Amino acid sequence: MRILVATRSAHKLREIRGILRGLTEVELLSPEGVGLAYDPSEEETEAFETFEENALAKARWFHERSGLPALADDSGLEVDLLDGAPGVHSKRFAPQSDPDEARDRDALNNEHLLARLGDAPLAERTARFVCVAALVDGRSSPLIARGEAPGLILGRPRGWDGFGYDPLFFDPQSGRTFAELSAEEKAALGHRGKAFREMSGLIRESVLSGSHD
Ligand code: IMP
Repeated sequence: MRILVATRSAHKLREIRGILRGLTEVELLSPEGVGLAYDPSEEETEAFETFEENALAKARWFHERSGLPALADDSGLEVDLLDGAPGVHSKRFAPQSDPDEARDRDALNNEHLLARLGDAPLAERTARFVCVAALVDGRSSPLIARGEAPGLILGRPRGWDGFGYDPLFFDPQSGRTFAELSAEEKAALGHRGKAFREMSGLIRESVLSGSHD
């Protein structure tokens, strides 16, 4: 069975392939691998206010253009002191007024998050990463899986791996930030790992057994 992974991020694709490697019957393809060149209208699929709606819209968009079952996710960081922000707006949290275009978006987002939290004590800087995965195959009702990882937002970045808010996100279970974890450790503890492991079970149960209707 072939499934298109609806992401343009090489980092995410690698993470998802790693988490789903137990699904040996499934071949996971990238948009480029099936000849789908980047189209700016893809970005419009992330216009909703919930992770579920965004993941479903993205999976539908890629399914409609490829004819293949498409697996998408939407993820982000929810910070309690900010009433759940940046949430579905995590990718574009920092205002875009910075004139220095060479500085990447992740660094600006992290700085903006630190500024918004000010000197709030660590115990109050509670947060969670959320990931919702959706599979749309056009024949059956979509499959949806959600994963969450609780943590604390540090006052300064730590670690060099990962992406996005990883250097600020402290995981109390391991005593490290997500940027200090190996890919395997992050997959075991992280929101994407949890969502895609659940999705892996759903795919196995419903699609591969032929009972997905
Ligand atoms: P999307 O799911 O690609 O739309 O991700 C939205 C944004 O959430 C990313 O650009 C990151 O800023 C943030 N994010 C999602 N997952 C992670 C993660 O695992 N680590 C760090 N940041 C993340």
